[in-house]
Amino acid sequence: MIDGRFASNLPAELLIDRASIARRIDELGAELAGLFADEEPPVLVGVLKGSAMFLADLIRAMDIDVAVDFMSISSYSQSGVVRIVKDLDEDVRGRDVVVVEDIVDTGLTLNYLRKTLSQREPDSLRAVTLLDKTARRIIPVPLEFSAFEIPDVFVVGYGLDFQGLYRNVADILAVRDLARLANDPRLMVAQLFGLKSG
Ligand code: PRP
Repeated sequence: MIDGRFASNLPAELLIDRASIARRIDELGAELAGLFADEEPPVLVGVLKGSAMFLADLIRAMDIDVAVDFMSISSYSQSGVVRIVKDLDEDVRGRDVVVVEDIVDTGLTLNYLRKTLSQREPDSLRAVTLLDKTARRIIPVPLEFSAFEIPDVFVVGYGLDFQGLYRNVADILAVRDLARLANDPRLMVAQLFGLKSG
């Protein structure tokens, strides 16, 4: 059982389990599919890398035809300056665009994406996020769909990483002792994946 793994001395605890994630994504997928049912296929824009898992599950919960594209953004949290590392492959002019994020934190990234994409004159522009950390918002940015609002805790799993690790944990974990994890980033690997430590 998954709970057993979290009963041990980990610096993180279960925040949202995989079954709850799946249920909520099914709801969101149905909602989005209904919105575009009689329209041309919308373009779902995954923001790399964290949204990959959410995007993959979300589009499979939508029983309509969709197009998928990706952007990669480099953000400088200190200055708030954001730049595009990988742009969309397709022109989104006249299309219904849905930006797919794993988490909206300060809102700087989504704010930048919305401004940039709206300049390309899509027919509509919406955003969906798996996690909404409203307590951290710096810029109030429109966010049409959100799977879960979470408190101001550092989260890993289901696409979200710590130093590149833990993206493929199926549940979402809240890291309670970030200093301890920072001191040994691979600390949770053995227990979470049932591997030998070392
Ligand atoms: C995360 C997330 C968002 C952004 C949100 O990306 O995927 O794009 O941060 O933060 P903000 O609201 O404060 O701008 P990250 O830079 O961690 O990259 P990754 O998805 O590749 O891990």
